[in-house]
Amino acid sequence: MSTLPPFANEPVLELRRAAVRAQLLDGMDRVAGRLPLRVPVTIGTDERTGAELLSTDPGEPERVVAVATRATDADVAAAVDEAERGFAAWRAVTAEDRAAALIRAAAWLRERRLEIAALEVRECAKPWPEADADVCEAIDFLEYYARGAIALDAGAELLQVPGERNDMHYAPRGVAAVISPWNFPLAIPCGMTAAALATGNAVVLKPAEQSPGCALMLVQALRASGVPASAISLLPGEGDAGAALVAHPKVETIAFTGSLPVGLEINRAAGTVAPGQRHIKRVVSELGGKNCVIVDSDADLDEAVPAIVSSAFVYAGQKCSAAARALVHEAIADQLIERLAGAVRVLVVGQADQLGTDVPPVIERSAQERVDRYAALARDHGRIVARVEEVPERGWFCPPTVAVDLPRDSPVLGEEIFGPLLAVDRVAGVEDACDIVDGLPYALTGGLFARDPATVRYVSERSPVGNLYVNRGITGAMVGRQPFGGNRLSGTGSKAGGPDYLRQFVEPRVVTENTMRHGLVV
Ligand SMILES: NC(=O)c1ccc[n+]([C@@H]2O[C@H](COP(=O)([O-])OP(=O)(O)OC[C@H]3O[C@@H](n4cnc5c(N)ncnc54)[C@H](O)[C@@H]3O)[C@@H](O)[C@H]2O)c1
Repeated sequence: MSTLPPFANEPVLELRRAAVRAQLLDGMDRVAGRLPLRVPVTIGTDERTGAELLSTDPGEPERVVAVATRATDADVAAAVDEAERGFAAWRAVTAEDRAAALIRAAAWLRERRLEIAALEVRECAKPWPEADADVCEAIDFLEYYARGAIALDAGAELLQVPGERNDMHYAPRGVAAVISPWNFPLAIPCGMTAAALATGNAVVLKPAEQSPGCALMLVQALRASGVPASAISLLPGEGDAGAALVAHPKVETIAFTGSLPVGLEINRAAGTVAPGQRHIKRVVSELGGKNCVIVDSDADLDEAVPAIVSSAFVYAGQKCSAAARALVHEAIADQLIERLAGAVRVLVVGQADQLGTDVPPVIERSAQERVDRYAALARDHGRIVARVEEVPERGWFCPPTVAVDLPRDSPVLGEEIFGPLLAVDRVAGVEDACDIVDGLPYALTGGLFARDPATVRYVSERSPVGNLYVNRGITGAMVGRQPFGGNRLSGTGSKAGGPDYLRQFVEPRVVTENTMRHGLVV
């Protein structure tokens, strides 16, 4: 039996306190002295160097944050072999002892939370509150899955009848490939890795090419806390390293978070059974979104305006849960558009390390170009009602923009832009809004502002999204409180940070024993 206290979310820092802000700046000073970090390919205890991959500060692209080794196909093969060996030992560790290691890793991160948040500010231009929340979420995943794995290890209750004993338990699957994005550079790789390890699998982690430094922190935390080196290897690299990992016949489970095109490619590649392969790979994929907030005519606009603005523009719209469209009842559309435009015009676009910044730069040049392309389309096909042109010169900044009057078939309204561009559509009513949401291929998050409980019920029933938020912002899911993940083309997974997630990393086994005595063999 577990003696762990019940799970509780890690509290975020109180950034309004001057003393806390001073601590953050100290944390940044300590990190600055250590940059650039070296991130070798790390397979068991073997650290390999080779061709380099640089991660740079999106706000100061000349600043190198990490120098990583680019994993080769040979590294991928060696890492999977090591994980196969590591799996044999790690699966034999009890669920309680595996959980204890994850909880020590949570403590390791907690002790270093300021420095790790500072690294996220540098490597991914996460503003301080977002960086701090990401570290807290990583800690939450470790704590939550540690407890969940102990509970899962107890097995499931089955119907028992006289003369027969039925037992159902869950066994780890084997080698898990974890492939992560950069936008939650610690929490997302941590969640997928912690779930796989907690249930007894061995992990090969391929983090995003933009954030190898943050991934190194995770691997250090796990190894310093008793996870054997052979059970967690690190392969920095680009998409080709991820693809080689997915194709490897000894990989049993692939936990992927990232874009739809890559997710589809991984699902396709994972369906190929290599000669000699004796299992079907399981793919857990958490993908993109085109998230809509519906605003009914009776909505409280004092609540709706700040919530929509923060959902669309915090972290420059680079959260998978970010608001991309507002579907507004025509009776209040002019009023809402005017107020949204006013709120957006005063957003502060600036460097992530400045505490007053609302909108930091986007992750890289290609992201800036993509957002600019969609902004130009929005200008050509519709009307721009707010745009903050004053942005710093250096860094991958994009002006926060609100566009209206776009034709319903505009790519701006259907495709994931992943940047600070919000489109507002007028709708005839909530039913029309629900039809629009229902017509989208993505179904990740959504929002509703309305006062009538019947409207809330109607939208909840019709909404296909994985996470619907009512009368609040649509980002910031908390582990254990808002299990997170999308439907339709937004993912195959069953909710990170929720009660079903760990089952994807295990296989159920049932043993049925005839317990009638037939005499003893002597
Ligand atoms: N649903 C969610 O929970 C969630 C959370 C965060 C981000 N996202 C999505 O992630 C995207 C942004 O992240 P990104 O730009 O890092 O995504 P991405 O798909 O470009 O990359 C994600 C990871 O996949 C790797 N990769 C690229 N090509 C590959 C291939 N062919 N085979 C295997 N691996 C490959 C990358 O190197 C990286 O590690 C957005 O679409 C966003 O909506 C979704």
